[in-house]
Parts: sequence; structure tokens; C-alpha cells
Amino acid sequence: MRVKNLIIERGNIMTDITEMLVRRGYLWQSFEIYGGMAGFVDYGPLGNGLRRNLEKLWREFFVISERAVEIDTPTIGIEEIFIASGHVSSFTDVAIECEKCGKIFRADHYIKEKLGIETEETIEFVNEVLSAYDLRCECGGKFKEPENFNLMFSTKIGPGKGKNGYLRPETAQGIFIDFKRLADYFREKLPFGVCQIGRAYRNEISPRQGVIRLREFNQAELEYFVHPGEKRHPEFEKYRDFTITLVDKMDGEHNITLGEAVEKGIIAHELLAYFIARTAEFLLKAGLKKDKLRFRQHKDDERAHYAVDCWDAEAYTSYGWIEVVGIADRGDYDLTRHNQYSKEDLSIFIPYEEPVKVKAKKFIPKMNLIGPKFREKSKAIAEAIEAYNGEVSDGKIILEIEGEKYEIEDTFFEIEEKEEVVYGERVIPHVIEPSFGLDRITYSILEHSFDTDIVDGEERRVLRLKRWMSPVQVAVLPLLSRDPFVSKADEITLKLKKAGFFTEKDDSGSIGRRYRRYDEIGTPFCVTIDHQTFEDSTVTIRDRDSTRQIRVKEGELERVLRELLESERDLMEFGVPFK
Ligand code: ATP
Ligand code: GLY
Repeated sequence: MRVKNLIIERGNIMTDITEMLVRRGYLWQSFEIYGGMAGFVDYGPLGNGLRRNLEKLWREFFVISERAVEIDTPTIGIEEIFIASGHVSSFTDVAIECEKCGKIFRADHYIKEKLGIETEETIEFVNEVLSAYDLRCECGGKFKEPENFNLMFSTKIGPGKGKNGYLRPETAQGIFIDFKRLADYFREKLPFGVCQIGRAYRNEISPRQGVIRLREFNQAELEYFVHPGEKRHPEFEKYRDFTITLVDKMDGEHNITLGEAVEKGIIAHELLAYFIARTAEFLLKAGLKKDKLRFRQHKDDERAHYAVDCWDAEAYTSYGWIEVVGIADRGDYDLTRHNQYSKEDLSIFIPYEEPVKVKAKKFIPKMNLIGPKFREKSKAIAEAIEAYNGEVSDGKIILEIEGEKYEIEDTFFEIEEKEEVVYGERVIPHVIEPSFGLDRITYSILEHSFDTDIVDGEERRVLRLKRWMSPVQVAVLPLLSRDPFVSKADEITLKLKKAGFFTEKDDSGSIGRRYRRYDEIGTPFCVTIDHQTFEDSTVTIRDRDSTRQIRVKEGELERVLRELLESERDLMEFGVPFK
């Protein structure tokens, strides 16, 4: 079949690795037979298997190991959600369109590519740069007036005029709007985490980076709800001495411990530092290389509309440094907004350890004076006086009723002072959010694992995936493509599949070519059925990285493979060397 590359408009970056990923069944261009469309990819059998293993690891790290649960909410949301969340007004990029050829670019990316300048994402700034540098389209044409382009895909729900909806640009909002139910599930006890893994959609302006910038992609997000005054984590001590490259918002690079970074105020608090450490640990375990991983703090003009502080995990790839995870302190932004727009109380009651006595002032309206003075407004004024809990200044209090301000003199109310016992307080929790882009992580793992070496005097391509991450963990290869070799291979394959190993049987081509194929797709172990198998019930296991082999008893195969897959141990520890 004709092999088509993933759609990218630029350059020679997608070279060997992309060709291999497409040919071998990791990633395919979506809608390929109709010419394809930038920003969409299909996961072939191997890509899908790799991402599934990545998701399993993610759940181990961020659901099972935390006080957290996972939920699943619709990918389409009604308009109200995204008005409240700020996405309708603020989730925009600046687009520039060429007057001559009609091509449209994302302004900040185009300016960075052509001039090397980091741009503020505002129309004014883009305009200034366009005219100061007389920046033109690649075809030589001038650009039209820049415009804000909202990245959400809009849709109509239901027939006729329908109801406005959007495809979710992040999985997070589904969690925020379920907060009341979730708080109840966790017995209103902070901290707790809620995860969601699923599709997110962004109508990216000109996606030109293969799988890095997709219009439909996969997120794994954790929303970790905490008391605003307690941005700590009980497990942080384990990570106090953890080091990973940090680049602060002034571009200063630090190779200090996370404990020091918090003490020096580089990272705002321990909870963010804890999630930086966990994220790094997760990415390294998944197969990213430590020298190609760093955490970069967002600059003040770069942060999303909801974020107080934000650190991106960045992986170095042939596209340069790319963001693979965003870790943001979203404060109480989302819950406060949904509280305000839905009119549902999204605070939770936090009891004090000991009840406290407080002197409370009670404002009592004097109805006999208020009625004649304020007439039809008197009921609203009286209620506002009763609800008032501020100070009296210059003999007056100021009330706001339906957007209007009223100055009320102290002749219209009395103040009663009394002692009250208070058992706790209502707070809107803050949210710390590690947000993982699974596609970018999957791709970075593939790049970081891709290698070549020389075997038997020939260049070999080998994907050095973590053993258990590999989509095909074991390949069962009959030496000859006839019975009894093939039926024995079928029997062993079925046994291994039933035991939970991702296993494939392959009897096509020479054994040498088959080894090369499995090296190229990252299979860590090949089991070969040869003549000796029928003499002493042994098989060989071949290690992808060293290409060395051992012989083991068929009855031992499952145990040995399991130990090998779950560890980094050397194959040679497990059996008699072969050849
Ligand atoms: P970028 O600056 O690259 O556009 P972003 O800052 O908009 O990314 P976030 O909004 O923080 O990204 O999204 C969280 C994560 O989702 C990112 O770290 C990234 O891995 C992933 N992600 C975001 N947009 C895309 C996309 N268009 N295609 C693939 N993954 C994406
Ligand atoms: N939830 C973070 C983001 O997708 O922007």
C-alpha cells in the first residue's frame, strides 16, 4: 500500500521515525484515502497499544496513588459552561490572513518562526510587529488586520435552532461542574483529586507539527482540590531532594532540589513542587530521557486566563522543546465562576478543630423609618441591612442592591452585639491541575526511544521502549513456517495472551528479518521455537537491546517473562546462554 506521511507543511523533521511509525502501524494520517486533514491522526494497532499502556501507568500514578477518583463526562458541553469558564471570551489565538493567497497563520507562531520574537498574544502587539518589520506572508502578500480566533469547535444540540454547544477544549470543566456531587462523594473532606482521561478539541489555526498540534487530542487531567491555606502534600518530604532542570519565568535555569526551589520562592508552594516531581517521575518511568526533560515556568503574559502560577513539563524533540504537561495553580477561579453563573453554592464547609466564640454584630432594620423613606424598595433594603456584616463608617453603611448603591444612615438601623459560637467556615477550594497531553507524551517517548546500532555488520533500527510499555511485549516466532513449529507457536501465543502478555505470533520471512521487525517496533523479547523445542521442551528468549539469547524450559516461560517485563534485570540471569 502507498504510505502517506502525516500531514505537515514544513521541513524534514518527520524523517526516519515518522516513516517507521506510519509503515509499522503506530500513527496514520486520518482520512488518508480522502487526502487527509491537518490536525487529526489515527492510532494504528501499535500506537493504540502504546497509549493504552501509558494510560495504565498514568492511572497508577495519579488515581490509585492519590486520594483521587476517575470520572467520565460528555465531550460536548452546553454554552453556559464555557461562558462561565471564560473560554467563550478568552480562549483565543490571534490569526493573521494573507490578502493575496488567503493563507491563515497563528500570529505568535508565525512571528517566532520568521523573526525569532516571542510575542504577546494581543492584536495590538501583533499589529505593531507586522508594521515595524513589514512582515509579509511566505507568498509576499500583505496581511489583513489580525483577528482573535476562538479555538473551540461550536455545535448545535438538537434539531431546528437547537441549543448552542461546544466540543470541550479541556476535560477539566466536566469535573468542575460536577463539584457539588464530588464534594459529597468525598464527604466534604479536603484534599481530594478527580481525574478524567478523554478527548479534547481545539480548532488550532494552522497545525503544522504532525501529532504535536492536533485538533482532536487526548488529555489526562487531575484536578486536585485543596484548602486555600494548605497547599502542601503529605508525601512532599519524599521529593524534597528531587532534582530536575527548572527554568523560571525570567528564563533562569536552576539545577537545585525541589525543596530549595520552594524555599527560594521559585516554585510558589510545596503542592506545585510535589506535582512537578510526580510528573517527572511518571514521564521518566514512561520512557522519556532525563536530559531531554525540563520544567519551565510560564511568563506573566503567557499564563492561561485562569492560572495563578503554571509550570510546563517540556520534552526535547526534533520540533525543539515541546510542552507535554501543564501544571497550573488555578486558584478558586473555576469554582467561583461556576458558583456565580449557576447560582449553586460550590463552597464546602470546613469544621474547625475546636468551635470558636466570636463577637457578632447583628444589624436590625428600623422598619417604621425605612418604610416611609424607601417605599417599594423598603423590603429589599431591610433584608440587605440584616445581611450586612461590614463596618459603619461616618455614620453610614453602603449597600448594593441589584447593582445599585444605597447609602444608609445609622438612624435606620440598630446594632446588637452578641457572642456566637462558630463551628467552621465555608470555603471555595483551590485547584492544582496537572494536565497531560497523551499524544505529545506518546510521540516524545517514541522519539526518545528511537535508536540505531550495528548488529552483525549491518545498521539496525531499534525502538528502546521501556519493556512493559511496548505494545507487543512478546513475539513468538516459529523457526520454520510449517508444523509442528507453527502449531507449537500458536499454543504458546495463546497461553501467553491468556496470562496477560501483549503477544503476537509471526511466521513470515526469515528469522533474521523477523527479529529486525520486532526490534524496530520496540518488542523487548522474542521467543523462538526451534528444533530443540521438540527434544527437551525448551525455547529461546532473545533480548531486543543486547540481541543475546537464553534457553529456558517452556514451563518456566511465563514466570521468566513476567520478571523480565516488570524489571530492568538482565536476560542472562534467567537461563542458559544460547549461541
Ligand atoms: P500550546 O501552548 O502548545 O498550545 P497549551 O498551553 O495550550 O499548549 P494546555 O492548554 O496547557 O496547552 O493543555 C494541556 C496539555 O494538553 C498540553 O500540555 C499538551 O500536552 C496538550 N495539548 C494542548 N493542545 C494540544 C494540541 N493542539 N494537540 C495535542 N496536544 C495538546
Ligand atoms: N486543563 C488545562 C488545559 O487544557 O488548558
